[in-house]
Amino acid sequence: MIKNKFYVTTPIYYVNDTPHIGHAYTTILADVLARFHRALGDDVFFLTGVDEHGQKVQQAAEKRGLAPQQHCDDLAPRFSSLWKELGISNDDFIRTTEERHIRVVQSILQKVFDNGDIYQKEYEGLYSVAEERFITEKEAESGQFREVKVLKEKNYFFRMSRYQERLIRYIEENPGFIRPEHRKNEMLGFLRQPLTDLCISRPKSRLAWGIEIPFDRDFVTYVWFDALINYISAVGYLSDEEKFKRWWPASAQLIGKDILTTHSIYWTTMLFSLELPLPEVIFAHGWWLMGESKMSKSLGNVIKPLDLIEQHGVDAVRYYLMSEMNLGSDANFTLENFIKRYNSDLANDFGNLLNRVSGLIGKYFEGVIPGQGDLSEADREIAAQASTLGSRVEELVRQYKVDAAIDQIMELIRVVNKYMEVQAPWKLAKTDLPAAGRVLYVATEALRIAAVLLRAVMPDKAGRVLEILGVQASGLVWGGLESGVKLPIFPPLFPRIELEKV
Ligand code: ME8
Ligand code: MG
Repeated sequence: MIKNKFYVTTPIYYVNDTPHIGHAYTTILADVLARFHRALGDDVFFLTGVDEHGQKVQQAAEKRGLAPQQHCDDLAPRFSSLWKELGISNDDFIRTTEERHIRVVQSILQKVFDNGDIYQKEYEGLYSVAEERFITEKEAESGQFREVKVLKEKNYFFRMSRYQERLIRYIEENPGFIRPEHRKNEMLGFLRQPLTDLCISRPKSRLAWGIEIPFDRDFVTYVWFDALINYISAVGYLSDEEKFKRWWPASAQLIGKDILTTHSIYWTTMLFSLELPLPEVIFAHGWWLMGESKMSKSLGNVIKPLDLIEQHGVDAVRYYLMSEMNLGSDANFTLENFIKRYNSDLANDFGNLLNRVSGLIGKYFEGVIPGQGDLSEADREIAAQASTLGSRVEELVRQYKVDAAIDQIMELIRVVNKYMEVQAPWKLAKTDLPAAGRVLYVATEALRIAAVLLRAVMPDKAGRVLEILGVQASGLVWGGLESGVKLPIFPPLFPRIELEKV
């Protein structure tokens, strides 16, 4: 059987500060997609990492009185260890100060220089210190750029302009390339104006912390030209041909909308110049907001993932982030919403169904899963809905509708809870024990199928449910639950969060 390949990436985050919920969101999203695709039998490679060069990092190091490399060595593990805490199943973690990356960046610079796409010129223009790049007059007028000054400098430029028409055509011919749709339109709008060439060097006299330009040692590489290359340096470009052929082009490059231009314009034209195929999908999600503003390191209004995990558990945090944000739009992060969703979806619906079926099986069947028997009309409706859940969820996940996929799963849970109310197996048990057993089997089997699918989102808790139900195989076909298995006694998986405790 030929397996599908799924190569998913996150941005590599700046090590200018510790990670917050925004970074955790993209990384968990990539993890959920990776886990879904692994469950579908795809061959998955999941890459994340950190962006260690450039002015922001140099300044952060200076502030702490550390050499930049020392600062990076201290911060990179804060990302990788948070990802471990969050159950992130990445296959690689790339740091841009690693030799394997630096070598590839320098080879690429040389290659692009040799093919005539890099040239040197003196340029005088407006420079945003905060954004670390030259900006246009129009951008300066927008007032969105901080610390703007006039700068005159000799630098190296990448001939982005050469690829403008080709990129427009590519985006138009591949409507699913930049997603969601409104981000694609935003980029096409941007491309209606002439594309200027990209300044890709910084004189060492002004910024020393970067990858040295191989053909002019007085310069280092602009941080974005360096950083974007991580997506191919990590999978063997110019170092391991076989590996590179296996994984590139990426299936899904996940980013926040803040870095849409760098990915859909800088990165794509760099790939054109290298004669490499473009990724299948660039997906730009929205922002987590705190009130009106973006949650951001520079604003300091961040929620620390570790605090939340400590209080409510990893899977509750993963579940909240994945279900609350409509993929592509902004969402507001509030503790109140978090608790509401936890209590309604996890404590009341999912956790409660598990408690109910296991409690009743304990009470009327000595804890042993009863037989299924001949299904009634109502039972068959549940079985039908549960049997098609897998393919409905797969379809939504393939369209990057993760929140809608989760909702489909939770909808089955809600329907089964209602079915339990109506069938009332606790009443049936008194007059028709086999009928009570049948209802409990049906409800528990539907719960099993929901848990199999929820494993991508809540690997630990959903895995625990399957363990409790004593199922080894994890298929989505109706009937996987084995009667005769004895259920263990277990503490509640999702105890309600009482508001006064918060
Ligand atoms: O831009 N809501 O790194 P960065 C949602 N190093 N997502 C958020 C978020 C928020 N409030 N805040 C951050 C960089 N993110 C570059 C990337 S890639 C070659 C180089 C997430 O540390 C989101 O994915 O500023 C966003 O795009 C990314 O973190 C920016 O992280
Ligand atoms: Mg940023």
